Amino acid sequence: MSEPTPELPKQWIKGLVPTMNDKGFMFEVLDEYADEFIRSSSTPDNEMLDIGCAYGVATIPALRKGARITACDMDRRHLDILKSRAPEDMHDRLTLFTGALPDIDLQDNYYNAILCSRVLHFLSGDEIDASIRNMFRWLKPGGHLYLVADTPWGIWRNFIPTWEKNVANHERWPGHMPKPINFLPYKPSSDDVGPPLMNLLDPTLLRRTCEEAGFIVDKASFVDRSDFGDKGRMDGRENCGLAAHKPD
Ligand SMILES: C[S@@+](CC[C@H](N)C(=O)[O-])C[C@H]1O[C@@H](n2cnc3c(N)ncnc32)[C@H](O)[C@@H]1O
Repeated sequence: MSEPTPELPKQWIKGLVPTMNDKGFMFEVLDEYADEFIRSSSTPDNEMLDIGCAYGVATIPALRKGARITACDMDRRHLDILKSRAPEDMHDRLTLFTGALPDIDLQDNYYNAILCSRVLHFLSGDEIDASIRNMFRWLKPGGHLYLVADTPWGIWRNFIPTWEKNVANHERWPGHMPKPINFLPYKPSSDDVGPPLMNLLDPTLLRRTCEEAGFIVDKASFVDRSDFGDKGRMDGRENCGLAAHKPD
C-alpha cells in the first residue's frame, strides 16, 4: 500500500507555511521575480523549472498559466503535497523531481526559465557558485533565470555588524553565518534547531555569481517585503532578487 500524502503543515504565522525539513517557510505572498517567472509561463511550449518549490507557491500559478513545469525540491514530502494541491487535469504538465542543489541530474539546454526562490542562502559560497553554473547549463540559450534570497536586513538583523565587518575585510561571502539560530532576534523554542548554515546575499553578490557563470544580468535589486511582519520587516531590503538570461 502506498503511504498517504502528508498534509500541508499548519501556519502559526499568517502567510508563512513551515517547511518539513527546517528550511524556513514558503511565503504565500509572491514577489516581482516570482511574478515574472509565472508571467513567462503563459507560453505553452515553455519548459519551466522551479527549484526549491516547497508546496508550489509559484509552481501552481505557473501551471495554471499553461506551461509545462518541473517542480524540484530536496524534500519529497513537499513535492507530494504540491501534487495533491495542483489541479488534476494539469498533472500531465507537471514533473516532480527530488534533488538538492548544487548537483541535480537535470537535462542540459532544456529549460526556458528557472526560478530559485529563497533557496541559495542555505548553501555555502562554493555551492552557490556551482548551482548557478549548473543553472546556466540547464537553461536553453536565451533562457531566463530568476533568483530570490534573504539579506541581513530583516529577520537576520543581528548579523548586520558581522556582515559589515566581513565586507570591510573583502570576504568573498560576507553573509556566511554558521549556527543561524544564534542570530535570531527572539529566543527560539527549545526544539527549534534551524538550518545548520545561512549564507545571506545582496544584489551585488547575486550579480557577481551570475556574471561569473556567463549570464547577462537584466536586473538585480533589493525586494521590499512590506508584508513581512514583526522583526522580519526592516527597511525595504529584506530580500534580494535577480533576473538574468543566458546569451543566445
Ligand atoms: C524557504 S523555502 C522557499 C520556498 C519557495 N520557493 C518560496 O520562495 O517561498 C526553501 C525550499 O527549498 C528547499 N531546499 C532547500 N535547500 C535546497 C537544495 N539545496 N536543493 C533543493 N531544494 C532545497 C527546501 O526543501 C524548501 O522547500
